[in-house]
Amino acid sequence: MPEGYVGGAQPRVDGPLKVSGLAQYAGEFPAEDLAYGVVVSSSVAKGRILRFDLEAARATPGVVAILTHKDRPTVTTDAESHQDQAAPPGLPFIPLLDERVVYSGQPVALVVAETFEAARDAAALVRVEYEVEAGVVDVAERRDAAYDPPEKRDGVPPPPPPRGDADGAFAAAPVKVSGDYRIAVEHHNPMEPHASTVFWRGGKLVVHDKVQGVTNTKAFVVNLFGLPEDDVRVLSPFVGGAFGSGLRPQYQLTLAVMAALRLKRSVRVTLTRDQMFTFTYRPDTLQTVALGAGPDGRLRSIRHDAIACTSTYEDYQEAVVNWSGLIYACDNVSLSYRLAKVDTATPGDMRAPGATTGVYALEAAIDELAYAAKVDPLELRLRNYAERDQNDDKPFSSKELRACYERGAEAFGWSRRSPEPRSMREGRDLVGLGVATGCWEAMMQPHSARAALTADGKLEIACATADIGTGTYTILAQIGADALGLPIDDVVVRIGDSSLPMAPVEGGSWAAASAGSAAQMACAALREEILKHARAMENSPLANAALDHVVFSGGRVARKDDPAGSISYVEALKAAGRERVEAKADFAPDEEFQKKFAAYTHSAVFAEVRVDEELGVVRVTRVVSAIAAGKILNQMTARSQILGGVVMGIGMALHEESMPDRRLGRFMNHNFGEYHIPSHADVRDIEVIFVDEADEANPLGIKGLGEIGIVGAAAAVANAVFHATGKRVRELPITPDKLL
Ligand code: MOS
Repeated sequence: MPEGYVGGAQPRVDGPLKVSGLAQYAGEFPAEDLAYGVVVSSSVAKGRILRFDLEAARATPGVVAILTHKDRPTVTTDAESHQDQAAPPGLPFIPLLDERVVYSGQPVALVVAETFEAARDAAALVRVEYEVEAGVVDVAERRDAAYDPPEKRDGVPPPPPPRGDADGAFAAAPVKVSGDYRIAVEHHNPMEPHASTVFWRGGKLVVHDKVQGVTNTKAFVVNLFGLPEDDVRVLSPFVGGAFGSGLRPQYQLTLAVMAALRLKRSVRVTLTRDQMFTFTYRPDTLQTVALGAGPDGRLRSIRHDAIACTSTYEDYQEAVVNWSGLIYACDNVSLSYRLAKVDTATPGDMRAPGATTGVYALEAAIDELAYAAKVDPLELRLRNYAERDQNDDKPFSSKELRACYERGAEAFGWSRRSPEPRSMREGRDLVGLGVATGCWEAMMQPHSARAALTADGKLEIACATADIGTGTYTILAQIGADALGLPIDDVVVRIGDSSLPMAPVEGGSWAAASAGSAAQMACAALREEILKHARAMENSPLANAALDHVVFSGGRVARKDDPAGSISYVEALKAAGRERVEAKADFAPDEEFQKKFAAYTHSAVFAEVRVDEELGVVRVTRVVSAIAAGKILNQMTARSQILGGVVMGIGMALHEESMPDRRLGRFMNHNFGEYHIPSHADVRDIEVIFVDEADEANPLGIKGLGEIGIVGAAAAVANAVFHATGKRVRELPITPDKLL
């Protein structure tokens, strides 16, 4: 038996299924009565549908039906029924609701046919006539119409109230910087496009959906279509990435359910890569950061103001500016966050929503301050180290950021950096070294789980959470294996099924802490069950053994003081005449603890770039990301999360940009030919360091890792580009044209 799986380097338990192609995704489940739906997307951004010409489409062989707003199954029309767990305030978009067009790419019809090819051909023949209105897609054009969010979004803290006198302190500060920062619109674009396969089974629906939360999706379908709870089951056993795009039920699901109910047969709707640009994205955000400091670089004033875009129909919100009152110690802070409406789909949560955006601006400004104060950027961060959460006036539950700075700097070789911009060269290249801080909240959610032991001696861990590539299957198997003292191969993890114990949407980096804690509690309860049966056996050597007098190891429960007197789980079950014993647990975060402490993960990100001076091309040649995130459950999957976050950060800094056509109101580069993401050649040497951090927010000490890897990464790259070139580009991505 290994010492324990938790904390080790455990390969993904679902890896063999994935690499052999046996893992099935939402758009792959077969059904005999399956029809295929293809979405027709609006070519205008705003207006009304006047009429459809469906003649040619209908005449296409194999076409079964064409759904439009004039011809769709009934949905409930009260706004409440359209809500989902992750929805912001407002009226969620429901496809085919009426003749209005509110964004370019909005689905306006669904063509259903016997084959995918027939549906696709017919969809291309659908003609739509619109009455077009002028729309605005650039948040900068709506700056003057910015407004305070009328209603706060659940789970998203508003900016903290001002403290001290930020304006006065800024005016009086001997060293100051101020700048406008902007990020580009980014689309999530997970590898697996969004898809839904709806099995129609005599009026009941079994839905395979590409989604991060089956419990949430099930409730959405039940409410929207007014169906009985028992008639809907939602599954997502495998999710090919999501980054937040699968937090909310997306329109392909609604369309597939509509078609299945109308046709009384199974229907699949898969979006094209183009259509992956027609819903949720990271919101375009205009930010101004002003920092005042003493001659030593100690902060005296922080001001951070943001205006983020949202749609005309929802007030999407995220915590953009709050980080600026949190990461550094400062007594004079003023933060504001407003929204401005544009004629696009509602933006949404994308990996570390808010922090990715806001911490980029803050960390770029901190870098500018370091040059203004002539203090080393890393030293400046250390001088302003926050020992306490000043936003909420609380101590941190744990914060090993200092160790991140130290170990990261050492591994990176920060000391080789010469202070002046443009002072480091290698051949034709300018070399630059940059650093940034990252921060993300360590959240938890109420979560249930079930642990069961079956007659073959296997442990089953079950709950409705998802694994979007983060490693949920694996960490749950590790936790279960350790709790019952079983080899990991004897643990079966079942997730992604709404019939399993309740899970919230898998997001916010809370899944490991929440599902992991629930699983551990369920396993603890299961141990008691097993002991109960073992004690009840005839002549049981454990007859009088209390729970804390026994150990569960190697598939056996044994007395600590007499290991020879042990009983195997299988024997205990058999003696009790049971095929299966199980225990369920409901985990809830410790509210007292949360009231007392602020819980965050932290990072120090170091980046080295080489810039070709003549071409303006930036290469990120080395990144070191040092992370403090509590207990690391699995060194392999944890490292992968940070690598992925850093790669997305490189993309944000240098590549990713959905470009709006301001006249047509649509994103022009809605494909992977023109929407650039980092390729292999763009990703060189990335080193991940986990520093030790003990935390008591939950028994396992988990904080969560899915998002911290991206926060600060773009700023580290942008700061390195400034160090290399002496040119401060405040509008991401930093493309060659901006450097030349
Ligand atoms: Mo995450 S943006 O909560 O999937």
